[in-house]
Amino acid sequence: MVRTMNPRDIDGVMAVQRKAYFAIEPENADVMESRVLRAPGCCFVWEEKSRIRGYLLGHPWHGEGVPPLHQRLENLPESCELLYLHDLAVDPDARGRGIAGELLRRFLSVAPELNLRESRLVAIQGAERFWASHGYRIIRPVTTYGTTAYLMALKL
Ligand SMILES: CC(C)(COP(=O)(O)OP(=O)(O)OC[C@H]1O[C@@H](n2cnc3c(N)ncnc32)[C@H](O)[C@@H]1OP(=O)(O)O)[C@@H](O)C(=O)NCCC(=O)NCCS
Repeated sequence: MVRTMNPRDIDGVMAVQRKAYFAIEPENADVMESRVLRAPGCCFVWEEKSRIRGYLLGHPWHGEGVPPLHQRLENLPESCELLYLHDLAVDPDARGRGIAGELLRRFLSVAPELNLRESRLVAIQGAERFWASHGYRIIRPVTTYGTTAYLMALKL
């Protein structure tokens, strides 16, 4: 089931992250935790039998720039209009069961109460097809990720 993430979940989140990424260097626990600390209502885990099988890290954001990888999120911009999805991953053993879709639905459901009208993310590892199936559209390539990456947006 999906529930809100808290800082105690970071070890379980890191275990999924290690298995999920091959195109980029995984981010460290400090960088991941900074998202939960700044935007706890926008970060979720999917837990089964006390084990984290998937997670989504997000936060409100502002403007055309992309938050850099491998850097802590120290502060949120003063005024935000975007719900930024920083990272979504599911344990390879638990894929294809709708876990990512469920995490995404829960994440997008927070937008109205935060008065955010658009969601953005950077797609890597060929995931742009997955995001397109959820309505996100490519805005432009991103050149700072060290791998093929696209900024994508979904109007809410
Ligand atoms: C992308 C990811 C989160 C999907 O997790 P999941 O729980 O298997 O997703 P769901 O079960 O909700 O959806 C599965 C559907 O998405 C499709 N899908 C999953 N990954 C895909 C990809 N990279 N490209 C295209 N389609 C993809 C599956 O084919 C399946 O389609 P179907 O329902 O028509 O059969 C998972 O594959 C993952 O963790 N990948 C590695 C991390 C990653 O790339 N994250 C995104 C970075 S931007």
